[in-house]
Amino acid sequence: MQKNKKLLLLPGDGIGKEVMNEVRRVVDWFAKRRAVAFDIEEDLVGGASYEAHGTPVTDAVVEKALNADAVLFGAVGGPQWETLPFADRPERGLLRLRKELDLFANLRPAVVFDAMVESSTLKPEIVRGLDIMIIRELTGGIYFGEPRGIEELPDGTRRGINTEVYTTPEIERVGRVAFELAGKRKDGHVHSVEKANVMESGVLWREEIQALHDSDFQDIRLEHMYADNAAMQLVRNPHQFDVIVTGNLFGDILSDIAAMLTGSLGMLPSASLGAKDPVTGMRRALYEPVHGSAPDIAGQGKANPIAMLLSYAMMLRYSFDLPEDADLIEKAVSEVLAGGLRTLDVMQKGMARVSTGVMGEAIIRELDKLSA
Ligand code: IPM
Ligand code: MG
Repeated sequence: MQKNKKLLLLPGDGIGKEVMNEVRRVVDWFAKRRAVAFDIEEDLVGGASYEAHGTPVTDAVVEKALNADAVLFGAVGGPQWETLPFADRPERGLLRLRKELDLFANLRPAVVFDAMVESSTLKPEIVRGLDIMIIRELTGGIYFGEPRGIEELPDGTRRGINTEVYTTPEIERVGRVAFELAGKRKDGHVHSVEKANVMESGVLWREEIQALHDSDFQDIRLEHMYADNAAMQLVRNPHQFDVIVTGNLFGDILSDIAAMLTGSLGMLPSASLGAKDPVTGMRRALYEPVHGSAPDIAGQGKANPIAMLLSYAMMLRYSFDLPEDADLIEKAVSEVLAGGLRTLDVMQKGMARVSTGVMGEAIIRELDKLSA
């Protein structure tokens, strides 16, 4: 790379900070050993930003995120902020970043490492070899639809309102990401998930996805499925899925289910991508683990840094077109797990329980070995 790319690190709250520390070590390793160097800035988001500035994300941080080549995000939230008004809550910081960067496509892979087959709550034969990609629409649907709010009614009771809205362009652009990605995978098979049996936005979703398929992606196998059935099928026979494309709320729920198939939320990365810049061809992008801030174990060195490190790998793959470097991290993680090290969240009998830092260190040592 000629000019260093700009990375913005937003560790956030709880274990977000600890897992981000491990990313810094991996970033340093790549700078030294693979000449993959970044200019790094770090800033506050979530509860940490609220404490310092009275808002879960400042305009200045949004501006930095808009100007970065990629954002790495830890996690936000904690019990001390749960009673704040909605607009001040840590989660709003993340939602505002997603919206302002227009990160409409959220990629959530659920991959079962061989060494982890036993730690799923499902039988090994159900989850072995699993490799699913959930593509969740991230800037529309009921998360952002208007009208919304809580109203006082004349009789003294109240009414809470949220609105599920999808437009043709919103469905089309996320559908395109899903079909293109499916085209690069072994199976090339897309399930589009909605509730067309009860929701008009679901009917539109189904029709637009089908139309996009018929015009531009006829070679990809497409099936439609209702969201409740998809949830059930994911735990019944997850191997029937390859790529799932769905709206914001169903994607939130289905990706947590898919995550648990792999044994732990602590293992799963995600990428949130915007539109391609017409000049550079690069997409705005934010990478974050699927897990939350886990306040109950924060600051104790118990957190699993793997989801965060795999998010960094996704960044190398999707933002900087460095698939070999991404593969290297994924291979290192797989080897370390095969070697028997586990953080608390994925602890199994016969394995060695290690702290966040020791897990990070082991992955660095494995990177050394793999690149020797
Ligand atoms: C996620 C999280 C967020 C969401 C929360 C923290 C707002 O659950 O990224 O899946 O609901 O999108
Ligand atoms: Mg979620």
